Amino acid sequence: MDRFLMSSNHPNRQYTVAVLGATGLVGSLITQLLEERHFPVGTFKPLASERSAGGTVLFKGQPVTVEVACPQAFDGVDIVLSSAGGVVSALLVPEAVARGAVVIDNTSFFRMQAGVPLVVAGVNDQALAQHQGIIANPNCSTAQLMPVLKALHEAAGLKQVTVSTYQSVSGAGKAGLDDLMDETEHNLGDTCPAPHCVRPSQFERKNFKRPMAFNLIPQIDSFIYEDGLEAGYTKEELKLIHETRKILNLPDLAITATAIRVPVLVGHSEAVTVALERPLSVAETTALLAKTPDVVVATSYEDYHTPRETAGTDPVYVSRIRRDTANPATGLHLWVVSDNLRIGAALNAVRLAESLHAQGLVHPASVGVSV
Ligand SMILES: NC(=O)c1ccc[n+]([C@@H]2O[C@H](COP(=O)([O-])OP(=O)(O)OC[C@H]3O[C@@H](n4cnc5c(N)ncnc54)[C@H](OP(=O)(O)O)[C@@H]3O)[C@@H](O)[C@H]2O)c1
Repeated sequence: MDRFLMSSNHPNRQYTVAVLGATGLVGSLITQLLEERHFPVGTFKPLASERSAGGTVLFKGQPVTVEVACPQAFDGVDIVLSSAGGVVSALLVPEAVARGAVVIDNTSFFRMQAGVPLVVAGVNDQALAQHQGIIANPNCSTAQLMPVLKALHEAAGLKQVTVSTYQSVSGAGKAGLDDLMDETEHNLGDTCPAPHCVRPSQFERKNFKRPMAFNLIPQIDSFIYEDGLEAGYTKEELKLIHETRKILNLPDLAITATAIRVPVLVGHSEAVTVALERPLSVAETTALLAKTPDVVVATSYEDYHTPRETAGTDPVYVSRIRRDTANPATGLHLWVVSDNLRIGAALNAVRLAESLHAQGLVHPASVGVSV
């Protein structure tokens, strides 16, 4: 029996597309990418909170009025690209689905729910076919790891993964960016002898609870306090652990993480240590990742990638590939850098919309599989 009404797969179909959180860092980039990548948008609906409603965002050179995100705003919408925070998604995503839309959600709210595909474009697109109205985008630090870990697993079997992340402040949205810029200016004003360096009289952190300028913070999201194996981890670290297992369909993968916020504007970096089932040399790993879609590999030691130098570009960059001195037989270290706003959020969301369109999967939840 056909599981879907394939009649929804019209190559020339145009969609009514809502961007929920259109005024945010991720939503603005989604809007830009829909335009740049020529997604078949018939009608474009930017949605945000009352703070931004009535303002405009530019789409295809035209100002489009931002509407308040409320259940009725999704009437007639085919696709929602959602990035307005977990609380908003919890409230509004089911309303959009009930009105017949497919939602690609960037927040963490639905990611681990059964029946919600958690998808990285180019890694596990096949999971899209199981959607029941909601598709989740993984956390930014998870997303950039996936093409790399998938390739290593298919070639040599992943036995154990240890990740330390160095995550930029844009991962915390506009407020994170503002905090770093304002605090940097404020701190320089304190010490700079030049007459123009006037310390801004007022500085109040909007997002971070500890100094972000000239510092780093070994906490992203809140701590787990309950007794057990996960006690003392942050939710960000657990997202990386659990989402990786779900995306790669490796529920028992031995993986652990430490997530650190660093004073970088855009671009997350990750120091990754893997133990493999079968040995892979550095040369074999380099060759393997060089032919992995979406991945760019450094060709010399000095050719390593930094977040500032790669921000604004699409690939996942891998460098510093070397054997693990603590596990020379099957261990490798890698340095993985990517633009968190792109593959970690907006680009992945738009690529998933493209994949849904190409596969004829833009349909109401009632038409999809029931499990
Ligand atoms: N930044 C990243 O690298 C990244 C990566 C992956 C996932 N995400 C997730 O994506 C989401 C947004 O991230 P962001 O970086 O774009 O944050 P952001 O820059 O702070 O933008 C937040 C957006 O949500 C809107 N919003 C806030 N409260 C709302 C409400 N009550 N009703 C409707 N809209 C509301 C804001 O609208 P106003 O202008 O009206 O305030 C704004 O458009 C978060 O859940 C985040 O975890 C972010």
